Amino acid sequence: MSELNAIHQPVLLDDCVSLVSGALQREHSTVVDCTLGLAGHATAFLAACPKASLIGIDRDAEALDLATRRVAQEGFAERFTPVHAAFDEFAEVLDGLGKERVEAVFMDLGLSSLQIDERERGFTYAQDAPLDMRMDTSQELTAEQILRDYDVSRLAFIFHEYGEERFSRPIAKAIVRQREEHPITSSRQLSELVDRVVPKARRPAGNPAKRVFQALRIEVNGELSKLSRTLPQIATRLSVGGRLVVESYHSLEDRTVKRFMVKGMKADVPPGLPVIPDDAQPIFRDLTHGAIKADEEEIGRNPRSASVRLRAVELARELPERWVRIFDEESRETEPHQEHSREHRQSSGRRR
Ligand SMILES: C[S@@+](CC[C@H](N)C(=O)[O-])C[C@H]1O[C@@H](n2cnc3c(N)ncnc32)[C@H](O)[C@@H]1O
Repeated sequence: MSELNAIHQPVLLDDCVSLVSGALQREHSTVVDCTLGLAGHATAFLAACPKASLIGIDRDAEALDLATRRVAQEGFAERFTPVHAAFDEFAEVLDGLGKERVEAVFMDLGLSSLQIDERERGFTYAQDAPLDMRMDTSQELTAEQILRDYDVSRLAFIFHEYGEERFSRPIAKAIVRQREEHPITSSRQLSELVDRVVPKARRPAGNPAKRVFQALRIEVNGELSKLSRTLPQIATRLSVGGRLVVESYHSLEDRTVKRFMVKGMKADVPPGLPVIPDDAQPIFRDLTHGAIKADEEEIGRNPRSASVRLRAVELARELPERWVRIFDEESRETEPHQEHSREHRQSSGRRR
């Protein structure tokens, strides 16, 4: 299984192990890895924390199987529970396992290199493939359906919001024009379309289709809304002194994580109040003081690490009732296609 490390090198591994293991020194402590992937980080956590057990969540059944085999081969099977789920089902997963609180939660967002390299999953503009982009292949919505069904405004919105694409509207219009003639089904067709629309003189560095592919991937998998719903669920299930450690790879994800953490690091009172009441004290202690980035050496060895931002906080005290109410509300915000995906998975009985 060492070949799995060659397929996907875990990013900022030493920092992540040190941050997570700070909360896992007690007997029977538990860490949840919400993005198990190929278990590169997870196996390092289990090796560094012999008293801890790990719950590994992934929505990709293939990754989960490979990770489960790897954990067993490295001799950690007894301290490991794999769960096929999306991480916004965090509270449900813990309820199902009879776990009230956990000591650490880790997230390494985005795709594993295995997913990027699998041509037929259609994540990359670098190879011609069907426009699929589902991390969970039991979900219905694909990138092809979005390009077929969304109107100009909705397409332009996702390219602008999730891809920060300057030519979002002309690209959306060109998609709708082209699909009236014939459907857009392959990554090559989409790349060529973007290439025709974006003026050569006004292109930022890199492939012009990069931002459109990122936007479609975020929309297909509901990435930002899932993240926003998950962070508050995690906060309500951390033990006091428990840690939340998150690695993000694009600015939209990092902004979501940063806002969430910073909100909890501040005293919850109007400026100038001379005494801060107990229930208004900050709930989080900052462990990374801003974001940790990869150094030149790691970027040279593993280019995927170039965009990483690692942030971590510790739960400083029992959550006041007011925060519990806020987090409960935030974790219930729904997204349109998610309900379908969940129903489908339950009816096909694939949850372990
Ligand atoms: C970057 S990889 C994790 C790699 C892992 N840390 C390792 O060292 O092998 C991210 C993983 O998270 C999974 N993932 C992404 N979004 C998810 C979500 N909303 N719920 C559950 N898993 C998710 C992907 O399927 C992928 O396997």
